[in-house]
Amino acid sequence: MKHAEPGANSTKSLYIRTYGCQMNVYDSDRMAEVLAPLGYQLVGEPDDADMVILNTCHIREKASEKIYSELGRLRPMQSDKAARGGRMVLAVAGCVAQAEGAEMQRRAPFVDIVLGPQTYHRLPEMVARATRAAGNRVMDTDFPVRPKFDDLPERSSANGVTAFLTVQEGCDKFCTFCVVPYTRGEEYSRPAGEIVAEAKQLVQAGAREITLLGQNVNAYHGAGGGGGTWSLARLIRELADIDGLARIRYTTSHPRDMTDDLIAAHGDVPQLMPYLHLPIQSGSNRVLVAMNRKHEVADYERTIDRLRAARPDLALSSDFIVGFPGESRRDFEDTLALVERVEFASAFSFKYSPRPGTPAATEMLQIDESEKQQRLSELQSLLSSQQDAFNQAMVGRTIPVLLEKPGRRSGQLVGRSPYLQPVHALAPDRAIGDIVDLSITARHANSLAAQPLAESSH
Ligand code: 5AD
Ligand code: SF4
Repeated sequence: MKHAEPGANSTKSLYIRTYGCQMNVYDSDRMAEVLAPLGYQLVGEPDDADMVILNTCHIREKASEKIYSELGRLRPMQSDKAARGGRMVLAVAGCVAQAEGAEMQRRAPFVDIVLGPQTYHRLPEMVARATRAAGNRVMDTDFPVRPKFDDLPERSSANGVTAFLTVQEGCDKFCTFCVVPYTRGEEYSRPAGEIVAEAKQLVQAGAREITLLGQNVNAYHGAGGGGGTWSLARLIRELADIDGLARIRYTTSHPRDMTDDLIAAHGDVPQLMPYLHLPIQSGSNRVLVAMNRKHEVADYERTIDRLRAARPDLALSSDFIVGFPGESRRDFEDTLALVERVEFASAFSFKYSPRPGTPAATEMLQIDESEKQQRLSELQSLLSSQQDAFNQAMVGRTIPVLLEKPGRRSGQLVGRSPYLQPVHALAPDRAIGDIVDLSITARHANSLAAQPLAESSH
């Protein structure tokens, strides 16, 4: 069997496994694009790959433990390949690499490359350095002054009809539980012109929906040409003019940055989908202060009232942390009460996980694990009953569905509602990428079933 020499101009196989948030999905796509000119082509399994990248997440404890167990599975594959005279270059990218790079090199010395989220445009030179000699190890967890976006290639594929586009990265808010300001670095907004150009490339490559990404996406304030600065709302209005771009979403937002112009955009930009992820984390003001969230519960509810006034069919999702240090039963009940009042279409909820280097991790008043678990179960059962009610209310309605991919049954297509619900429909005469009005006939655990109406494409 012939094995490609690293650095040779032949085809090599690349396997990327992505953990965590949507920005990591975006970053993985871009890493593949950076490596493509070297001959690397994506494959679906790591077994005999010439290069494996784990693009990691550090947001909660379990996330980094998963990486070490995955590395444990990859190590024998790497040795096998070496025994056959080949080489599997093993790289760990993303936020675990950024936060624990040095420890990772100690704990897993067989990892060839450790790189952070801000340096992957330099992957070709890292691969060259790592493969120059056996045993070379490379670590690059810089925060370069020149942003990586300046050195990334153009987008040539959209990976389907829905695409992600990073517009803002990093965070200056320093919530006391969160590693993001340390792993992704300080807040940075890409220039608006660069984003519009990338959006056009994605639409050209087949995207019909674009989700604008940022850890603090609604804090976006990018250079807009002519010396001015654009807000996220301004950017969304500009993107809405791109022919063929039917749906726009953005995530993740901070309640404090829900500005008047962004709320107004929800009312008058039809491409902006009526579904917003707006994390509040807790329904107790006392806990919000301890979390350094810089907003109160009443501010959040006022923002939601204004959003719903602008766009009455807006559905909401949120993130919650239970068992934050010092959270009393009473504080937790305030969270339940907030959820009862707002009514969420879906939500993510987590037990507080102490992260090294963050202020809350060294708080004395850590909550007992069993108490955290109890609170999480209570909150999740309330949230899932709200989600069920929201999904049930779709039955009998007609909603526009963006058809994304073939389903498992023949003639079946799977798409997404405006509220990101997966919708299964028998619509053999429709094409992927079409937006069709479908009549919702049933609700399943995690999806909706639908049938097409007569002529209704738009
Ligand atoms: N423990 C638990 N959940 C966390 N999140 C962030 N940091 C932690 C932590 N240390 C949650 C927040 C955030 C989401 C992405 O992950 O709810 O909004
Ligand atoms: Fe983390 Fe979001 Fe808080 Fe920033 S605003 S520190 S990303 S939770």
